[in-house]
Amino acid sequence: MTQNSSWKRVRKAVFPVAGLGTRFLPATKVMPKEMLPLVDRPLIQHAFEEARQAGIEEFIFVTGRQKEMLEEHFDYQPELERTLEARNKQDELEKVRASEMGESQLFCTRQAKPLGLGHAIWCARKLVGNEPFAIMLPDDVVLSKTPCLKQMIEAYDETGGNLVAVMDVPREETNKYGILDVGAQNGALTEVKGLVEKPKPEEAPSTLSVIGRYILQPEVFDHLSRFEKGAGGEIQLTDAMAKLIGSQPFNGFSYEGQRYDCGSRIGFIEANIAFAMQDPEIGKTVRSIVKQQAENADL
Ligand code: UTP
Repeated sequence: MTQNSSWKRVRKAVFPVAGLGTRFLPATKVMPKEMLPLVDRPLIQHAFEEARQAGIEEFIFVTGRQKEMLEEHFDYQPELERTLEARNKQDELEKVRASEMGESQLFCTRQAKPLGLGHAIWCARKLVGNEPFAIMLPDDVVLSKTPCLKQMIEAYDETGGNLVAVMDVPREETNKYGILDVGAQNGALTEVKGLVEKPKPEEAPSTLSVIGRYILQPEVFDHLSRFEKGAGGEIQLTDAMAKLIGSQPFNGFSYEGQRYDCGSRIGFIEANIAFAMQDPEIGKTVRSIVKQQAENADL
């Protein structure tokens, strides 16, 4: 695909990780939710690897209190590496190195109070500057052949403007998501005519919901900086994005893959089973364990 010349390339990704993770208490009393392991890597590393595979060069974390571990996870750990080298543990060494970020790749800013996702993104405005950027919510994990953000960047190269990953949800669940008012459809792309945060099922304009992958233009910061409170009294990203519609292209993108909501206990358990069953080392054993456990439960 060719780059749409009038839109800049996406080089930066913002990872908002300042939420409280109350649905995982007490596990998240001290440890950040984003450090919960999905099989063998913390959620934040899954998101980082997806972004890196999509060609992202700068990784911007919006952190908060008790979130230092998230930055440290991506540090160079000389003592650990020396010990693994001395013990000739090559596989383990490679796993450690896969979680290191190179020089000047990780940038962190802090959200003093968790005032909402929109506010968290606003906190990254100076690190993003005047260029398009991706947003990755680490608790949304997508199991797919091509990394979800890579699919989106390929589509963005054609569309430019703003692009959000979307999936269809049961109507009774629209009050958990940002929902699209849909326009024309063209393959994987759906024109966005409007966006509503957490509408009641009877008021939802469609059942197409935004998941935690976005490509946005920097003009969204102009709207976020008004600090308008929306659903749940929080500063909502959805409301600021809705204000871009009409002035810039805005599309929903139906990705190939399965999304898991690792911010909820059920979604997290489901993701662990699905990812473990796909794992080249342990997948076969896990599949037989799952089968055995299901049979035992039927007894
Ligand atoms: P969630 O809605 O999952 O909130 O945030 P949460 O606080 O993390 O978790 P619960 O609901 O209490 O269990 C979605 C994403 O937005 C970030 C979170 O870290 C998560 O990645 N977020 C949310 C912030 O960074 N700041 C906020 O003020 C709110």
